Amino acid sequence: MSKNKYAAKREFYKTIQDLAEHPVVLEMKKYPQHGKTNCYKHCLRVAYCNYCLCKMFHLDARSAARAGMIHDLFLYDWHTHAAQTGERFHGLKHPEKAYRNAKKYFPLNQIEVDIIRTHMWPVTFRTFPRTREGWVTTLTDKYCSLLETGRRK
Ligand SMILES: [Fe+2]
Ligand SMILES: [Fe+2]
Repeated sequence: MSKNKYAAKREFYKTIQDLAEHPVVLEMKKYPQHGKTNCYKHCLRVAYCNYCLCKMFHLDARSAARAGMIHDLFLYDWHTHAAQTGERFHGLKHPEKAYRNAKKYFPLNQIEVDIIRTHMWPVTFRTFPRTREGWVTTLTDKYCSLLETGRRK
């Protein structure tokens, strides 16, 4: 890794360190997400993509990275959740669950709230992003999900 890339990754990690090392966020490691990726790895990946893209476009990279790190903080295995609880429509409902969990543990700004609540658009239909960082996350989340599902790791 080049010196610049290493410095950029360090700068990124400092932005999200308190979240990434919080026990509630670490709990996401227990839950599989796509392919062989767990929720924690997926969120970390989305956070990094958000950070890089938002930096490039002069948007709020800090908020985008932080919200990316907790955008899927729903804390269950969605593959078995419906069978175990009878609760369906994970794709539609989990952004609100992640938001409720996130605001319980962390102070969130308006951009972070928008990112978490709308990242599943267009699945959430009328709940669409109101911020540019939110729109970025609808793309990075889908890009990372596709990558993870395709690679099976
Ligand atoms: Fe999600
Ligand atoms: Fe996600």
